[in-house]
Amino acid sequence: MSQLLVMHGPNLNLLGTREPDVYGWVTLAEIDKALADKAQAAGAELSSFQSNHEGVIVDRIQKALTEQVDFVLINPAAYTHTSIAIRDALAGVALPFIEIHLSNVHKREAFRHHSYFSDLAEAVICGLGWKGYLYALDFALEHLAEKPRA
Ligand code: DQA
Repeated sequence: MSQLLVMHGPNLNLLGTREPDVYGWVTLAEIDKALADKAQAAGAELSSFQSNHEGVIVDRIQKALTEQVDFVLINPAAYTHTSIAIRDALAGVALPFIEIHLSNVHKREAFRHHSYFSDLAEAVICGLGWKGYLYALDFALEHLAEKPRA
């Protein structure tokens, strides 16, 4: 069975109340449930993880390798623009991943225009709100069906 991991960076635990005009009203728990349900319906397993701490996110990425995770969906949040450590962790485990942002970071402040992840990612989805996670999951499930684990 394919294993997927969705990772959410700092402050995404506040979704639903955090700047709803930018990030929407849907909570993180609601997003995680929609993803887990969709993965399960497709015969895959998805686990979710959120942390406000860079090193904890690095540790979780390293652990993903020993758990036979096949694909990662990640919204690194503010660490998108700052974290070489999380970038290196993803490069180190060499797992395919999609970078997701709820908001269109390119329409926002200049400091959000650079990502430490995009050049390593299979794809980047931004500006489609919480549904961006669902679209990313669609792709990941199709990708895994075409290229099942050896
Ligand atoms: C974000 C965009 C980041 O710039 C910001 O720091 C976030 C959320 C998004 O989902 O739109 O925390 O990743």
